[in-house]
Amino acid sequence: MGSVDPVAPELVAKIFSALYVRQQASRVQWKNAQCNPYCVVEERPLSVVVRHPNYFTSLPGEYYTSPQIFEQEKEKVFKRKWLYVAHVSQVREPGDYVTVRAALESLIVTRDRNGAVRAYFNVCRHRGSQICDELSTGKAKAFVCPYHRWSYGLDGSLLAAPAMRNGEDFDYPEFGLQEAHCEVFYGSIYVWLGKEPEMSLRDQLSGGGMFPINDEKLSSIEPERVKMIHENRHIAKANWKIVMENNIECYHCASGHPDIAVVADLENFYYERGDDGELVACGVDSSFGLKEDVKTYSMDGERVCKKRLGNLADGDSFVWADMVMWSSHPHFCDYSQKMIVHPISVDTSEIVLQWFVHEDAVEGVDYEVKDVIALFSAVAEQDYVFVERQQRGVSSDRYIPGPNHSLRETDMEAALLDYIKLMEA
Ligand code: FES
Ligand SMILES: [Fe+2]
Repeated sequence: MGSVDPVAPELVAKIFSALYVRQQASRVQWKNAQCNPYCVVEERPLSVVVRHPNYFTSLPGEYYTSPQIFEQEKEKVFKRKWLYVAHVSQVREPGDYVTVRAALESLIVTRDRNGAVRAYFNVCRHRGSQICDELSTGKAKAFVCPYHRWSYGLDGSLLAAPAMRNGEDFDYPEFGLQEAHCEVFYGSIYVWLGKEPEMSLRDQLSGGGMFPINDEKLSSIEPERVKMIHENRHIAKANWKIVMENNIECYHCASGHPDIAVVADLENFYYERGDDGELVACGVDSSFGLKEDVKTYSMDGERVCKKRLGNLADGDSFVWADMVMWSSHPHFCDYSQKMIVHPISVDTSEIVLQWFVHEDAVEGVDYEVKDVIALFSAVAEQDYVFVERQQRGVSSDRYIPGPNHSLRETDMEAALLDYIKLMEA
């Protein structure tokens, strides 16, 4: 706690979504970043201090262990961010549906008869049973609750309730499925669980408009023209922020991820100080850290799918990420990948990895699943161990947040400041 001095309030936005910033220019300079002794939001000092005069830290232990804080996060964080839930390839045709997790909720994502993507809370309006099995997929003309057989149309309206008549027993139109706000960004489906979005999805992905979305680049990649070929779901005994922090920093990559070091120059993930002390991202622009002459993120750097994503050349890439409710979406020349973290409880999270190749690629001809997923599967297995080990450590009475590396864990600070801003709003 202690006293704090105000600094430029735009700082939080400036250092938000650094992965996205890195994508926009090869040398990004964050002015004022060094002279940020503390942070403020709307002229009000944040009570959780992670920014110290010469370094920043992670959060105090209770933020990773307290059920009370987790309860607060349900309202203050999970319902105030757009959350990635699925890809349009999973709901290509009207009636296609996939039952997904979005933070703590189960949602039915489908395409209605008009072709619009819709997301409904998987909660029957009768007595609250889940309608679809969790994580189920299929094609439906209607969603029928298995308990008492209430049925709902693809537009969420209540179609029938056995032995209960519309307009006599009750008015059907008042008991349609509850719907989450839903937006599609280049094929990726996001939902907003709160009542009304506080920002557009594009605003969130562009860091409040400070880092304009590169539509020209994105259009050329055609991220919507992929298909999911594999999904890996893992329950980790770690708070979701521990997982998020681990995904953001690559300080641990050299020792923890030997397979990444084969294809990526880790220096590319770090920052350096410019002559006047400003933070400068090192070299990462469109390569996502790949070494020269490396074509993609695979075990040997060679392509793992013959069909390209749009016009991405060997070694080229594009990524967007949400830094707080962690999800990242890197696109390489031959495949794309999504990584999502779902909070389950204060000390349990679900980590989901999805892999995509071009929709025209043929398994056994253009790609083998095992080759596409090899590198990030290995990385994920290593990270599961790290995050669970850290969770056990921060649960100790003797855990005191220590200094993070200002140039190798830099992006964590932005995410933590944004998190604190949400919690203290
Ligand atoms: S709870 Fe769904 S029909 Fe009764
Ligand atoms: Fe890692």
